[in-house]
Amino acid sequence: MIDCVASWIRAAQRLVLLTGAGISAESGVPVFRGPGGLWRQFRPEDLATPGAFDERPELVWEWYVWRRERIAAAQPNQGHHVIAHWQQTRAAALLTQNVDGLHERAGGGPSIELHGNLWRVRCAQGCGFRAHDNHASAPRTALRCRCGGWLRPDVVWFGEPLDPQALDGATRAAEGADVVLVVGTSAVVYPVAALPHLARRHARLVEINIDETALSAAADATLRGPSGEVLAALERAL
Ligand code: OAD
Repeated sequence: MIDCVASWIRAAQRLVLLTGAGISAESGVPVFRGPGGLWRQFRPEDLATPGAFDERPELVWEWYVWRRERIAAAQPNQGHHVIAHWQQTRAAALLTQNVDGLHERAGGGPSIELHGNLWRVRCAQGCGFRAHDNHASAPRTALRCRCGGWLRPDVVWFGEPLDPQALDGATRAAEGADVVLVVGTSAVVYPVAALPHLARRHARLVEINIDETALSAAADATLRGPSGEVLAALERAL
């Protein structure tokens, strides 16, 4: 199957990758669902909704600081590096649900971060302030905006719409793709989960995941295994 998928990638004019938390698992960053997943330990409604932030901004920030510290200590793995290499050498488009910034650290260039980035902050009050913030442990005083409101992580929480420009760009990429690799996502969170189905009408759809997912039955090929290993094997087979 690896050789077959490698031949699709070799022939692809418009290769698109859609990644989820599983791509960062080999870097030691926890996924959300399944064994060891964050949503087994924490309730999303306590930590990842605008209502939770309104009620307890300090608690939400504590969780994000904890995640930032783990991610800061992590390194991009071979999966991130193979994807970065394909961005550079095969003009692959990268769409990611991840907010960890590990794709960027692997050096592939621009990607569409559909759920935002935890290394950016923006004003929760809506004054429009937005900035990069690379401090793993942000001091409390740094969490206030110039306008007096709270700064919040610049990520998409449950119940919030995605950035329309990001979603448009991702939709266009999916519609224009001839090969789509969906890597390390449970494919259950919409609207992102709809993108592979859009692409499937005209593109080869390949799933790379350690487990079966909501998307598996729709895929033209499934490569089971840790994404870093599978992507490295694909790169060798090209
Ligand atoms: P999930 O935690 O839902 O799914 C992770 C997927 O990665 C699962 O299908 C695992 O089987 C797979 N996986 C785990 N380790 C892997 C490995 N080493 N190699 C390959 N696959 C592996 O994460 P996402 O699908 O990214 O949203 O979750 C989507 C969204 O739900 C996230 O962006 C986040 C979350 O709530 C928001 O915060 C808005």
